[in-house]
Amino acid sequence: MSKTKSEKVGIVGSGLIGRSWAMLFASVGYQVTIFDIIPKQVSDALEDIKTQLKTLEKDGLLRGTLSADEQYKCIRGSSDLADAVRGAIFVQECVPESLELKKKVFKNLDAVVDDVTIMSSSTSTILPSLFSEGMKHKSQMIVSHPVNPPYYVPLIEIVPAPWTKPEVAKKTREIMLEIGQEPVSLSKEIDGFVLNRIQFAILNEVWRLVRDKIVDVQDVDKVISEGLGMRYAFLGSLETAHLNAEGMESYIERYGNTIYSVSETMGANPQMTKCSSAPSICDQLNKMVPIDRLPERRAWRDACLTRLALLKKEMNQKYKK
Ligand code: NAI
Repeated sequence: MSKTKSEKVGIVGSGLIGRSWAMLFASVGYQVTIFDIIPKQVSDALEDIKTQLKTLEKDGLLRGTLSADEQYKCIRGSSDLADAVRGAIFVQECVPESLELKKKVFKNLDAVVDDVTIMSSSTSTILPSLFSEGMKHKSQMIVSHPVNPPYYVPLIEIVPAPWTKPEVAKKTREIMLEIGQEPVSLSKEIDGFVLNRIQFAILNEVWRLVRDKIVDVQDVDKVISEGLGMRYAFLGSLETAHLNAEGMESYIERYGNTIYSVSETMGANPQMTKCSSAPSICDQLNKMVPIDRLPERRAWRDACLTRLALLKKEMNQKYKK
């Protein structure tokens, strides 16, 4: 028998990410209330969520054991922030990426939450200390950073502020696992968190290689999509190294010095905004995917991620057997 829960979750901001969070929480039966500063956004979000849940169900991709109708019934909208978050065990903020806006939203939340509600932000780049200092409930504050589209890309970076209570980080991790995401827990906040630090390191080297005319845009992207990315969809870089030799000790012995000496040649980080190669890089990308075809290419990307998510699930189960 499928079951819903009595615990409440509040979602603040009903754009792309807010809608995904609502669906993830409803997939295991939480009672979700969505608040947005623009009431029409809430009604549009509810309509969109209903359509998405029905489509996922039809395609056999719906998460959890509840039907699309049962999951949809777990979600409601509200035009009152206090109503949306009162009594909630968890509130996920999903407003646009602006420090001033986040400060304002968390100040408003601070005034209405109780002493046990976890206040979590979806921010990709803003350190939680920057918008929670001075809050009465700042020890209940954390970042849960998703990756787009969160329904298919399960990673969540859990980033505490210096004053976040350890039990808040622990409970957030448990909730993320419960809704079927894959949390990673940072011990403290750091610029870019982990995902973007790695992403930026890759982008910097890719940029240098194209800027220095070693390869063009199409070929450098192929190195990721047809090479590294094939493995990285299943294994991290450290386990990849461990498997590429007779274990990590042997990898260090064989390749450690080479990795260091090649890395020493990489040079300073490029400044994209000032780089004279930027127009050529943009031009090559615009030829590969013209701006008016971005929506079509994004839909294709999401379809690929859907299939990949299924394959990963199947392959992970096979390894555990
Ligand atoms: P969005 O722009 O699609 O939606 C933001 C929503 O917040 C809108 O519905 C807007 O009306 C509402 N809003 C604005 N001010 C508000 C307020 N004061 N109170 C309540 N609602 C308010 O933004 P999106 O893409 O959903 O992103 C939300 C957050 O998620 C951002 O912090 C972003 O960095 C983070 N994020 C976004 C990812 C993405 O790929 N879009 C990926 C990972 C994180």
